[in-house]
Amino acid sequence: MVSNGIGVDDSLVRRAVLFEIKQDHLMESKKHISQSNLIQLVDETDDVEKLVFLLKKNNPDIVFLSTDNLNGEGNVTINKIRRYNNQVCIVAMGTKDETQAVLQYFRAGADEYLMKPIQRDELLALLGRISSKPRYSTQKSVSFGKTVAVWGCRGGCGTTTIAANAAYLQQQSSPTILVDFHIEQGDLSLFFNMRNMNYSIKDLFDANSNFDEILVDNVTTRYNSGLSLLLQPIKGNLRNFNSNSVESLLTILKQKYRYVFLDIGHQDKTLLTVMPHIDEIILVINQNLPSILMGAKKISLLKNYCFNLNDVKVILNQYKRKHHITPSKIQKVLGTNHKINCVRDDYYYVDMAMNHGMPLHEIKRRSKTNKDIIDFLKRFYSDKSDQDKEVKLLPFNEQNIFSQYRSEEVKGENHDESI
Ligand SMILES: Nc1ncnc2c1ncn2[C@@H]1O[C@H](COP(=O)(O)OP(=O)(O)OP(=O)(O)O)[C@@H](O)[C@H]1O
Ligand SMILES: [Mg+2]
Repeated sequence: MVSNGIGVDDSLVRRAVLFEIKQDHLMESKKHISQSNLIQLVDETDDVEKLVFLLKKNNPDIVFLSTDNLNGEGNVTINKIRRYNNQVCIVAMGTKDETQAVLQYFRAGADEYLMKPIQRDELLALLGRISSKPRYSTQKSVSFGKTVAVWGCRGGCGTTTIAANAAYLQQQSSPTILVDFHIEQGDLSLFFNMRNMNYSIKDLFDANSNFDEILVDNVTTRYNSGLSLLLQPIKGNLRNFNSNSVESLLTILKQKYRYVFLDIGHQDKTLLTVMPHIDEIILVINQNLPSILMGAKKISLLKNYCFNLNDVKVILNQYKRKHHITPSKIQKVLGTNHKINCVRDDYYYVDMAMNHGMPLHEIKRRSKTNKDIIDFLKRFYSDKSDQDKEVKLLPFNEQNIFSQYRSEEVKGENHDESI
């Protein structure tokens, strides 16, 4: 028997996440839940959005969800958790008699309801029920694909260039689709000379998430290499871009494609909408200080939302490289030990490819930019890809970076060719 140090067999201990909005309630609930040494509280939050990410991070057995301060939206939150994770046991907790609401909680997917303050015997009875109950199916859905969001640190940093060429190259070995989720300024069609397409992603989202594989197939465009594309409309805005419609679409795409690349532009809002439904992020930064600092902000946003930093790859697009900031300095600013993957500037061919509406590979396969994207894909997206070491957080001292950088500027051309 493996013991947890307090004489309890580890296999009997349930890992739990707690959601409580009010600080005093939080202390109270923690105290009561800890009455049983059969529950290990692994995380807590007062933010509904963050809760989903904590589930992804911790994969707990139980989520204790206090409903008192959710303004009658408890069922919405429960439904959200249930759609995201059909394994976790959802225990709603309330203080007053709310029979109608409790019914809704169960309909939304709750497994249990506890009145606060939680009594020890009720907690033990609940644990007994959990152990004897068969869990839901372990298969969320039959989904095989990996969803990779390509996210720019700011506008014009080369997000679409990287996304378009990476997806094109990846398609050569695995079924791949590229989706233009750059909601306001999606211009992916330019990169594949497809400005005259009749159908777009708008036709799907206008259907209010009521779309199926057939509809998705109908609005999917195919580039002649076999790469599938879901493009933005030439006219009109994309309405109904929300977590539900994104989830419905990605579920369908993941069943059909091995890789689902998303060009999400640079807005944080778009990232937060897609975040619960993606597996990895490619963060594109440029080699100048403002861009790198924006990159650091993006990384800290990911940390705040508990996105696993091991699932983030960083590309340094050296387009318009003006300054010579070394990758190790960039790592310091980012505050992680992420490997910085460089993609070199090759204006002549990148521009030519763009003007022809063709992937770089078809214009000049040995162009520097194309070769670097191929190396990046080999490293991370081939079957034999060697994974990065675990990403650790490093001490972050913005002041230092600025002073180092400025002193280098004064020294003049201090090129670091190691980049
Ligand atoms: N490695 C590179 N070498 C040369 N030119 C590049 C490189 N990467 C990007 N560019 C050029 O930079 C410009 C902006 O690229 P791109 O449209 O991919 O940026 P973006 O981040 O998607 O912009 P937006 O915010 O408008 O979506 C384009 O003209 C592109 O050709
Ligand atoms: Mg773009």
